[in-house]
Amino acid sequence: MNSVLVIGGGGREHAILVALSKSPKVDKLYCLPGNAGIAEIAECAPVSATDFDGIISFIEAHDDIKMTVVAPDDPLALGLVDLLESKGYRAFGPRKNAAIIEASKAFSKSLMKKYGIPTAAYEEFVDVDKAKEYAKKCAYPLVVKADGLALGKGVIICQNEAEAMTALEEMMVGKKFKDAGNKVIIEEFMVGKEVSVLSFTDGKTIVPMVSSQDHKRAHDNDEGLNTGGMGTFSPSKAYTEEHAKETMEKIILPTMRAMNAEGRTFKGVLYFGLMITENGVKVVEYNARFGDPETQVVLPRLKTDLYEIFDAIIDERLSDVKIEWDDEAAVCVIVASGGYPESYKKGVPITIGKLDDGIVLYHAGTAFKDGKLVTSGGRVIGVTAKGKDIDDARRKAYANVDKISFEGAFYRRDIGIKK
Ligand code: AMP
Ligand code: GLY
Repeated sequence: MNSVLVIGGGGREHAILVALSKSPKVDKLYCLPGNAGIAEIAECAPVSATDFDGIISFIEAHDDIKMTVVAPDDPLALGLVDLLESKGYRAFGPRKNAAIIEASKAFSKSLMKKYGIPTAAYEEFVDVDKAKEYAKKCAYPLVVKADGLALGKGVIICQNEAEAMTALEEMMVGKKFKDAGNKVIIEEFMVGKEVSVLSFTDGKTIVPMVSSQDHKRAHDNDEGLNTGGMGTFSPSKAYTEEHAKETMEKIILPTMRAMNAEGRTFKGVLYFGLMITENGVKVVEYNARFGDPETQVVLPRLKTDLYEIFDAIIDERLSDVKIEWDDEAAVCVIVASGGYPESYKKGVPITIGKLDDGIVLYHAGTAFKDGKLVTSGGRVIGVTAKGKDIDDARRKAYANVDKISFEGAFYRRDIGIKK
């Protein structure tokens, strides 16, 4: 038996598992911890993504598992791939020394500076007084970032000096993001259009996926707090062929080569968060993994067998695989729990009506309680539709979102409208 285990339990993992389930080479899927939707296609067990002992015991107890895919940032940053490899298991994802490209913004900024990869100008600080002194001399808006992982919330865009003083105080003294804020980056605010370009790489070859765009704020017109992502569409409307060429030459290939030169070969999915500015395409951030919810619009467009891609990357023969995409556009609308990204209820019963053909639901925060489907997180379910263009896909997705109902449910009504 050739079984695959996926680590994680959100909408991204559900999309990865749906893609893997289509592979004729995969006999069975497992997911730790998974969720209620994932449980329909994979055997799940309540082992968290950072419970390394629990994960190893699970693999030891299932000798049909021939590959483990590590999807979330935390286990990657903590070295789960290294641990699996040290025990002789095949693992998909970057090792700890490469996952640092996401886990430390100070690392990624200095990498870009050293190798001339375009990004916002910045300085890093460990001393709050020096950081404040510097911020007082900067132009506004100004961006203050915690160095470490902070659930995507460690970035504060400060409109004026007072906001910057508060952000620095909260991060560096108030420990709002715990140790992630011991070091901070203060960087120039970039004006432009954001686009996400994920890529497959084995360290020798790097193949960009189709582009996508996230909507990070909680409410319509980009109002409200930053979230993990309230919806996505693919392809981006702003990212032209010329931008793609420029990005490949100035950002994507140089990043792969830079990581090799540093002795930190990156194998896995490398995510480029980009800003298309007047002065060219620049890096906003790197992630060492598939994006969530970008994956929910990118993977439905993949025609090639995802298992074969993962397998080739592990063996460093990605250049042998021809990766193909369909021309349809995709839109994913996230239905979230009332109150998200702050406090919200869990355990609320969910009902799902009859969906139109072609609609795919990617479960994020769902669970079974006494045999009933209930909410278990802030982002609950993503509704993905494909269409001949973004407008078509958007119409199809929105014709189905109200069929996901639970007390307090909300979603953005403008996913895919952004230019
Ligand atoms: P990050 O976690 O680094 O992706 O930042 C979260 C969000 O903050 C990004 O998706 C951007 O919308 C915004 N952002 C981060 N850095 C900058 C910057 N230098 N200029 C403008 N916006 C930024
Ligand atoms: N959607 C952004 C991320 O996955 O980091």
